[in-house]
Amino acid sequence: MAFGVISEIGYICIHSSNIEQSLGHARDILGLVETDRTGNAVFLSSRAKRHHELVYIDAQRDAVGQVGLIAAGPTGLREARRRVQDAGYPILTDLPLHPGVEDGFSFAGPEGFIFEIYIGPQKSDVVPAGHAPDRFGHVNLHPKNVEAMRHFFVDVLDFRVSDIIGDDFAYFLRCNTEHHGIALIRGAGWLHHHAWQVQSIAELGKVADRLCDHGMRLLMGPVRHGAGHNMAAYYVEPSGAVVELYTDLEHIYDDERPPVIWPAEDQKWATRWALYDFTEFRSHGLFPAGEAVSAE
Ligand SMILES: [Fe+2]
Repeated sequence: MAFGVISEIGYICIHSSNIEQSLGHARDILGLVETDRTGNAVFLSSRAKRHHELVYIDAQRDAVGQVGLIAAGPTGLREARRRVQDAGYPILTDLPLHPGVEDGFSFAGPEGFIFEIYIGPQKSDVVPAGHAPDRFGHVNLHPKNVEAMRHFFVDVLDFRVSDIIGDDFAYFLRCNTEHHGIALIRGAGWLHHHAWQVQSIAELGKVADRLCDHGMRLLMGPVRHGAGHNMAAYYVEPSGAVVELYTDLEHIYDDERPPVIWPAEDQKWATRWALYDFTEFRSHGLFPAGEAVSAE
C-alpha cells in the first residue's frame, strides 16, 4: 500500500553497445523473456509478466537510461508532475516513453539521472522462463551528493527513510512496505545495480551455477544484508551494470517507523555473516545516458 505519490518501482532502462550480448544475458542468466520490440528498444519481463521491467536500448555506448517509477494512480501521477515541475526539474516528455503503459511523463532529476513516472503498466501474456525471477524490485544509485538525492526522493516524491548509514553516506528509501525501492550510497554518480526478487536462497545458488556454465562468476555473495535483511548475490551484466538477485527482504508495515541508524564503522549494515572488501564491488556501475530515449 503506497503512502505517497509513488506506489512501486517499475522498470530500469539500460543503453547497451552490444544489445545481442545484453539480451543473451537477460535470457540465459537473469531469466527474463522478451515481451515486445519496437525499433531500437527491446522489452523484457520476469514472472511478473508485465510489458516491461527491463528495457534495453540499442545505443552507441553503455549507460543507464530511465528509472521507471509507478505513480499511485492518476491522482499520484498528477501530483508528482506538479511537484517535479515546481521543484524545477526539466520535463523531457509529457507522454509515456514506451508502449505498454497508460500515461506518464519523464524528466531529468538530480545529477542527470532520468526518471519516468507513469501509471497503468500493462500485463504481458508471455510464458515466463523456468529460471525467471519473481519481479523487478529496486535500484541502487551511487550519487555524488547523496543528501541532495535523498531530498529529491523524500521531499518531492514522498519516499520514507528506512535505514541511514553513517554521516550522510547511505540511505535506504521505501515507497511501500518493501524496505527499499531506492538505495542511495555516496559514490561515483552512477547506477550501481538493479535488483530482482527470487523465491529463496536456492535461486542464488542456481544463478551462480548459470554464471559458471557461461564462463562468468558472481561479483559478491550470497550475503545477508543488515539494512533490509535480504539475502543477495551479485554479478556484472555485459553493459557494466551490477545485477542483484535477492530474497527475504524486510517489509515495514508501520509507515511511521523511525529510520534504523547504523554507525559508519559497523559493517553489519552491509553484510552480517562475514566481512568483505567492497573495493571491486563498488568499482562497477553505469553513468546516466544524459537523455531520455524513447522507442523509435
Ligand atoms: Fe540492492
